[in-house]
Amino acid sequence: MPYRSTPCNIVIIGASGDLTRRKLIPALFSLYCNELLPDQISIIGFARTDLDDQKFRDTIIRFLTCRYEPEQNKCHEKMNDFLDKCVYVSGNYNSIDSFTELKKRINDIGFPDENTLFYMAIPPSIFVESANSIYHTFTKGSQSQARWSRIVIEKPFGRDSESSKKLIDSLSEIFDEEQTYRIDHYLGKEVIQNLMILRFANLIFEPLWNNQFIDSISISWTEKIGCEGRAGYFDNFGIVRDVMQNHLLQIVALVGMERPDNFSAESICDKKVELLRAVNPLELDDITVGQYTKSSLNGKSELGYLEDPDVPNDSITETYARATLSINNDRWQGVPFYLTAGKALSSSMTEIRIEFKTISNSIFNSYGDIKSNSLVIRVQPNEAIELNIINKLPGLDHQLEEAKLNLHYASAFQQIVPDAYERLILDVLRGDRSLFIRADELDASWNIVTPILNRLEQEKIKPKPYAFGSSGPI
Ligand code: BG6
Repeated sequence: MPYRSTPCNIVIIGASGDLTRRKLIPALFSLYCNELLPDQISIIGFARTDLDDQKFRDTIIRFLTCRYEPEQNKCHEKMNDFLDKCVYVSGNYNSIDSFTELKKRINDIGFPDENTLFYMAIPPSIFVESANSIYHTFTKGSQSQARWSRIVIEKPFGRDSESSKKLIDSLSEIFDEEQTYRIDHYLGKEVIQNLMILRFANLIFEPLWNNQFIDSISISWTEKIGCEGRAGYFDNFGIVRDVMQNHLLQIVALVGMERPDNFSAESICDKKVELLRAVNPLELDDITVGQYTKSSLNGKSELGYLEDPDVPNDSITETYARATLSINNDRWQGVPFYLTAGKALSSSMTEIRIEFKTISNSIFNSYGDIKSNSLVIRVQPNEAIELNIINKLPGLDHQLEEAKLNLHYASAFQQIVPDAYERLILDVLRGDRSLFIRADELDASWNIVTPILNRLEQEKIKPKPYAFGSSGPI
């Protein structure tokens, strides 16, 4: 049955948190404005914070935007209609009584025994107890086989191979793999979704997409901000776990994988897993780690990581990492994949750069060095695809210059680029798992970084210092 004509409850566990306010509610509102939510929908927030429906609505209204409904009157009407569908229940994550209360609320205002999406917007340490409470209250002994219940979980999925496996196993006793949607929000980003289209719907790239023509691939993720406000969480993870193991390795998988048999979730994940399993686990020589220190930028002094009140002053948690991956298969043997992830750097951007080989034996050697071509895929900000080519500089002599063939999303497309969460929540509702992480994929990506994480920790390797706002350690 089409998902829109079946009533649905969306239960957000951890509804008083930042993720709910900043990402989930705005995404749900955008889907609502685009008439992409089921016609009969109830959104039930659940968290420990003591709020009533009105206070919950008062906190979330500030985060709703009129992107899809620019006309003020219409937008306000839509906001009010949307907020009417949002209610709140406060309770404890491990309490069956609290979840019974939640269920009662759904029975009163929602759609009992209909499709239910549980979104875990909570720290992973309480995933399992919350999932247990859901199981005992909602799914155990449920008579309704015709309807689905799905659970969405957010990273971090563990801290290493072992803890990730444990988490997968514990959750799988409660929810099947088919019901479990593990989010990596980078997979919902427009340009990342386009990677497969770029590679497999165009004839011109795939024949060159291998070690015969490609010299190296760089995937860089940088952020200007440091860890302020999140250092308590961050210090327990570090940038390798926070960004590299998930967002960057997912990009590696999409850039490097073989062509899936078809566009189904299973085929795509199969090929991603195959690629990730061919990546050699990182060793100490493959990685440089850094930690930002205080600096003064444009007259504003910025605290170093160790000065953050939530960070122990001997912390060796890395806020920057630069790693070289090698892939052990026919396509990529000998092509380094350079990954960079860092906070408190000079710019915020995510970019994939495919550097092609230089032409050997060029007929233009007498005109100077000829640069190699590169394909730059900018994920954010200012989504773009640029192909750098060599061109004749217009004029009466033969001067060769690098020039760009540009696809800048903002000027090429009228459409609004949706937020990643809009796409991902919509896919959960539609039951499309292609942009979610399968358990074996998670396992394969943890296997790449776990050995190096263990060594960094066991050998207490000190990250190299770099100044806040700089381009990272040298
Ligand atoms: C999160 C990381 O997964 O992604 C954060 O935990 C990071 O540390 C964030 O800031 C970046 O997401 P985006 O969508 O703003 O690039």
